[in-house]
Amino acid sequence: MPSADNVMEKLVSLAKRRGFVFQSSEIYGGLGSVWDYGPLGVELKKNIKERWWRSMVHEREDIEGLDAAILMHPKVWEASGHLAGFTDPLVDCKHCKNRFRADDPRIKGTPGQPDAQCPACGSRGTLTAPRLFNLMFKTFLGPVEEAAAVVYLRPETAQGIYVNYLNVLQSSRQKIPFGIAQIGKAFRNEITPGNFTFRTREFEQMEMQFFVKPGTDREWFEFWRNQRMQWLVGLGVRPEKLRWHQHTPDELAHYAKEAYDIQYEFPFGWQEFEGIHNRSDFDLSRHQEYSGKKLDYLDPATNERFVPYVVETSAGADRTALVVMLDAYAEEEVGGEKRVVMRFHPTLAPVKAAVFPLVNKDGMPELARRLYDDLRRHYNVFYDDGGSIGRRYRRQDEAGTPFGITIDGQSSADGTVTVRDRDTLGQERVAAERLVSYLEGKLQG
Ligand code: GAP
Repeated sequence: MPSADNVMEKLVSLAKRRGFVFQSSEIYGGLGSVWDYGPLGVELKKNIKERWWRSMVHEREDIEGLDAAILMHPKVWEASGHLAGFTDPLVDCKHCKNRFRADDPRIKGTPGQPDAQCPACGSRGTLTAPRLFNLMFKTFLGPVEEAAAVVYLRPETAQGIYVNYLNVLQSSRQKIPFGIAQIGKAFRNEITPGNFTFRTREFEQMEMQFFVKPGTDREWFEFWRNQRMQWLVGLGVRPEKLRWHQHTPDELAHYAKEAYDIQYEFPFGWQEFEGIHNRSDFDLSRHQEYSGKKLDYLDPATNERFVPYVVETSAGADRTALVVMLDAYAEEEVGGEKRVVMRFHPTLAPVKAAVFPLVNKDGMPELARRLYDDLRRHYNVFYDDGGSIGRRYRRQDEAGTPFGITIDGQSSADGTVTVRDRDTLGQERVAAERLVSYLEGKLQG
């Protein structure tokens, strides 16, 4: 395995070279901490989101899906506490105009005092005292740029679920306990973004809010902690690289009664990429108060009325994709040659199989094309007839393609092809007409 120091560098380079992730607006010098997903990256992230949706929505009868808008009534953010509390303490340098988190370890001295030194330009005494800076992006609704028209890009998808809680409850005829799941973009004007796609200003969340009777929240909290860890291990992430981190009272978000992060051992240390939060009745009570609409629940079995508690599972699609990419990255020697291989779980692999005619003659390209056309109706497959077969395998190893299908001299004689397994490098001959069902067996989630 490559050292932790340079694995990040290698992954960033592979991501660009192979079309997983590009810097946003690169030809203009890039836009800070905003990233675009290329042809392989978009497939990988889509596969992760699909597996999440399947396990949350399709495989459970007590969870409904939702797709709420990014722009919401500005009162939502007053009620949610984000306007007042979603802040970082920051200091500005009056000389070079750079802005830093107040706890930036590079700052020498005390910001606001003459001894403080700017980490960017080195000036002394130019750093302001810390001020609270809200992380929400602001924009204006309609043509007039005035205070009354200010709206925010949502910093979490959760609020779209809370404000639709009654709509979903009534239209789906669910009963508590039940959940609402959503995948969507969120935006935070992070001041110290970085580490590739780990902390960005525009990202996607996969969030599920589970509404429960107060008093049963601890039980559901444990249930969902368990479920989420199992799901991640099912994606093929190595269990020894995962751990729980319980939030201390200082770390708890303004809405949380209890919270655990799932952390991954990134090359830059153990860091969170998913959180399970017991949000109590904080959000629904606040929305009830600010909107004036009753959001309590009448339990048909007991005739009790209560504002439900919420157990939230909140994952970043981008951070999960980064975890999956880092966990899959491997370097090894095969036949005296180095190979880089992305060992994606087959269900997450962007391309499921690559089809290669061994040589571009003797009817092999025609056969290979036919097979490719047939397979692509079922899976995302790739056709490659360029270069030696070894080079073609290497290219697909880097893309994480689990199966390489080669059409050779024997294929036209007996209708079989070789299937090479990315991980074991084993090859077996399979009848071409059986390939769809062969792959189906191997690509089960
Ligand atoms: N609704 C709860 C909530 O938003 P959070 O811990 O602030 O909780 C949940 O965010 C997840 O969203 C994180 O675990 C992370 O995966 C992702 N996330 C948050 N901020 C991010 C950022 N700036 N860039 C990329 N992903 C981010």
